[in-house]
Amino acid sequence: MSDLVRFGVSVDAGLLESFDKLIDKMGYANRSEAIRDLFRERVIRQEWEAPETEVFGVVYIVYDHHTMGVHQRLTELQHASYAAIISTLHVHIDHYNCLELIVLKGGGKDVRELAERLISLKGVKYGRLNMGTTGTSVH
Ligand code: NI
Repeated sequence: MSDLVRFGVSVDAGLLESFDKLIDKMGYANRSEAIRDLFRERVIRQEWEAPETEVFGVVYIVYDHHTMGVHQRLTELQHASYAAIISTLHVHIDHYNCLELIVLKGGGKDVRELAERLISLKGVKYGRLNMGTTGTSVH
């Protein structure tokens, strides 16, 4: 483990109170651990924003499978991008709606572009991408 460093931070009392309430609700044992997680998240985000960094991404999309052509468009796009797609999980949410979780791997720029194409596909109601790395620069 690397050396621990203590440092002081000035913050508005109301903001600190809100933060403490939030991290208590989230189950953090103490403020230091919550702040370390924020640091790690920001460092990892900076890692995957570099276009050449290998990242993984999880895209979720929701669509009504009755929408004309949406199934075919999704299947064609995923087959065209098979090398970047590790796995797809399909869940029938209700009579109309489907949820797909698509796990992607590749360069940060490529993963983001493919996710944006999936989310913006005609017939997809909405979607979201979460990206990450192995976090090699955080401890
Ligand atoms: Ni379905």
